[in-house]
Amino acid sequence: MKVLLATEKPFAKVASDGIREIVEKAGYELVVLEKYTDKSELLKAVADVDAIIIRSDKITAEVIEAAKNLKIVVRAGAGYDNVDLAAATARKIVVMNTPGQNSNAVAELAIGLMIFMARNKFTPGTGTEIHGKRLGIHAYGNVGKLVARYGKGFGMEVYAYDPFITDKAVYEKDGVIPVGSVEELYSKCDYVSVHIPATEQTKKSINYDLLSKMPKGATIVNTARKEVIDEEGLAKVLAERTDLKYVTDIAADMQVVLNEKFGNRVFATPKKMGAETQEANVNAALAAANQIVAFFTKGENRFQVNKW
Ligand code: 3PG
Repeated sequence: MKVLLATEKPFAKVASDGIREIVEKAGYELVVLEKYTDKSELLKAVADVDAIIIRSDKITAEVIEAAKNLKIVVRAGAGYDNVDLAAATARKIVVMNTPGQNSNAVAELAIGLMIFMARNKFTPGTGTEIHGKRLGIHAYGNVGKLVARYGKGFGMEVYAYDPFITDKAVYEKDGVIPVGSVEELYSKCDYVSVHIPATEQTKKSINYDLLSKMPKGATIVNTARKEVIDEEGLAKVLAERTDLKYVTDIAADMQVVLNEKFGNRVFATPKKMGAETQEANVNAALAAANQIVAFFTKGENRFQVNKW
């Protein structure tokens, strides 16, 4: 069995070493393709492998077509919008993610970005505190729940909206106030932390109308995906509302324009870095390797995200 670790953005060495240990202990071969700059390198590397471990690497229909022996792809992380599920499913290739394994890193970054913006990007002068402010959690999954918990630790009043969790008890047991609609969440909260996946339904769903509803001085924190933001709508609302702020670790396509036009009210980290901690790398990497071994040895498919 041949397993490919294909990471354009490599894991910390301790994490990739961990993958090697698990894969080789199972008697499989590991090949590693890191920091590749051209799709052709990936197409070549997948040619004879049975399994692939990836991060945000794009597994397109073309990649799947080139991977003649492929049986399983594990996205070491949460979001699997980078995998062409239809193409994988058509070939009965199992696609899995490793939910929850890197959530803490993303949640810590979301809180860090809030404080960074509240303190005027750490430039001299008077900023504000997040204590006592209203925090809205947009989607109450693994990351959203942690951001809620940490926000409460900072003395924030925490609200949440998730269309897939309608049982109020889920929020209330965490001391979080559920709201009935996404509009209500954005209207109420001084900070909204975005944790929705990028799907056909959510792409560009955070738009001008929604953002216009935010209270004076509000900040949107996006550690989810750039695709969920309607960038034109964001630019329009930032132009009209000189009190609003936008911070992200996934630069918008028009980030350069946003930075130029809106200066201190917008910020994007130089590279996507929510899951860039040693701990998150290790958790997600080892989970991915273990899931592959369990799939081949026991048929275990608990984290499969495509079904047929
Ligand atoms: C995820 O979906 O798990 C995060 O966005 C992390 O992505 P990354 O592995 O590309 O950093």
